[in-house]
Amino acid sequence: METIDERMQMRKRQPIGVFDSGVGGISVLKELMRIMPEENYIYFGDSKHAPYGTKTLEEVRRLTFHNARLLLEEGAKGLVVACNTATSAAVRIMRSMYPSLPIVGIEPALKPAALQKEHPRVLVMATPMTVQQEKFGQLMRRYEKKADIYPLPCPGLMEFIEAGDLCSGQLHSFLRELLAPYLDRQLDSVVLGCTHYPFARGIIQEIVGDEVTIFDGGGGTAREMKRRLAAAGLLSDSNVHGWVKFENSLEAAGELALCRRLLEQEI
Ligand code: DGL
Repeated sequence: METIDERMQMRKRQPIGVFDSGVGGISVLKELMRIMPEENYIYFGDSKHAPYGTKTLEEVRRLTFHNARLLLEEGAKGLVVACNTATSAAVRIMRSMYPSLPIVGIEPALKPAALQKEHPRVLVMATPMTVQQEKFGQLMRRYEKKADIYPLPCPGLMEFIEAGDLCSGQLHSFLRELLAPYLDRQLDSVVLGCTHYPFARGIIQEIVGDEVTIFDGGGGTAREMKRRLAAAGLLSDSNVHGWVKFENSLEAAGELALCRRLLEQEI
């Protein structure tokens, strides 16, 4: 029988579970791997049920709990909900389901955008569900006196990334049309409040102009996970590069190749 010390030692080497409604959360996985390269990761994308952002709250909760269970059954020592939509719908309940597990969600990076300068104009791009949720309402209320905040639901945008389309003419036109009403508002920043959107960052930057700063929550989420694992004594003590295992509910040929491609994509 192992001692508590031996058990802890083994637990440190278990993977971090990361999931999203599809391939978007790979933008968060990249940040996790950048600051914790010695960790092992299992990334689960629920592409079969994507998008989450236009589903009902009950459906998103059910799918989110299912994804969490799946990763825990595979031995995840902590969970990163790399989906703003699933976080806003379910992270609080998940924490009460697994009180001793490090669980970190992602939310739109409104704080750094709102504090970037004196009363900035901030556009927040997110899914319809993220924008409707009370969690986002609270976040908005916290910063509404410090910034002009324009929430912009973007149904249809994540589908381009899910299809592996990061640069087509259709994607350019879609974004141009979506952002057109805001181009004369002298925006200071754009917050990418969905983990799929960083893969379209270059096009968004081109449309809004170089003087606009673009924020996303991936880096902050990864840092928070590192803090949580450290506090629980669960950071890996390995000194070699960890591994990444991709899993996807859509068993289509090419899905895992898309995951690898996005992992290598500069964003
Ligand atoms: N990537 C997800 C997010 O961060 C959601 C996309 C979707 O499923 O609608 O919100």
